[in-house]
Amino acid sequence: MLKTGNIELNGTPLLLAPMEDITDRPFRKICKRFGADIVYTEFISSEGLIRDADKSVKKLDIDEEERPVGIQIFGHDIESMVRAARYAEKAAPEVIDLNFGCPVKKVVKKGAGAALLKNPDYMLKMTQAIVEAVDIPVTVKTRLGWDHDSQIIDQLAEPLQDTGIKALTIHGRTRSQLYKGVADWTLIGKIKQNPNIEIPIIGNGDIDSAEKAKEMLEKYSPDALMIGRAAIGNPWIFEQVKHYLETGKIIALPSIENKIEICLEHLLEETKAKGERGAVIEMRKNYSGYFKGINNFKPHKIKLMQAEKIEDIHHILNEVQSSH
Ligand SMILES: Cc1cc2nc3c(=O)[nH]c(=O)nc-3n(C[C@H](O)[C@H](O)[C@H](O)COP(=O)(O)O)c2cc1C
Repeated sequence: MLKTGNIELNGTPLLLAPMEDITDRPFRKICKRFGADIVYTEFISSEGLIRDADKSVKKLDIDEEERPVGIQIFGHDIESMVRAARYAEKAAPEVIDLNFGCPVKKVVKKGAGAALLKNPDYMLKMTQAIVEAVDIPVTVKTRLGWDHDSQIIDQLAEPLQDTGIKALTIHGRTRSQLYKGVADWTLIGKIKQNPNIEIPIIGNGDIDSAEKAKEMLEKYSPDALMIGRAAIGNPWIFEQVKHYLETGKIIALPSIENKIEICLEHLLEETKAKGERGAVIEMRKNYSGYFKGINNFKPHKIKLMQAEKIEDIHHILNEVQSSH
């Protein structure tokens, strides 16, 4: 069982990773329907929130049906992060997650995201200040360390726990690796063996199948698994992993008809949230995933990427269906 604040989940919880420009409300809802136990918003800039910037504030929108949900914030300044956490708290998420793992240059160059891994004392001070400032559970998501020679997460886990955070997610890469190479879960396993660690440890990195999920669980014993890229255009992965962990059996991929149905549901949700133009653009990130492995999909994909209207998308997907 995973217990984080007021969240209590049985079995091995599966979490949808926070992903900028991907895990918007419509996508989170679809992942939830396929069994994601906790979903996270895209990371939200603390500076943006406290300036009341429209783009940041919009990302706080939560639907009842997607709960439990975590709002993730990032920033470099303790005071701004505290204010942003208080602001995010008003949206009443189950959890506020702190991003100490983003490797992107424009983020780390300001001292935010993974840059905090270079300054663990400051990271701990920031975390402590936020834990004290809000009434809801605070969690942290980070990486192994800044680079290969500074993998500090196994030493940092206990001091982070001592700040009062309620869970720690670890992506098994360093900042220097960005998304390259293979995620290494060794330190996740090591932290799980530390008898002083009581908070849930959530393992993340490269889970792209039910078998991989089981392998990581058996080798490293995290309390929960977080899935990111493999869920893009592939939200049924949560159902597949869950079913495999419970029964040892693999369920078949959705049929093309089913995939089209799910894709259209996603499109409809995006349209409700962002209007026609926003939805058309948002959906472009998802087609490769939704229709992976389908014969001769390329010409259809080119058309989908160029489509400007929802009715064009319906028309192209009808063509996909009738050509299979
Ligand atoms: C497009 C994209 C956007 C991401 N945005 C965020 C983010 O906003 N916050 C965060 O903590 N991690 C972010 N990540 C990292 C993921 O949450 C996750 O840690 C990483 O992709 C490894 O997990 P995976 O192998 O299952 O994808 C992002 C990753 C991708 C690919």
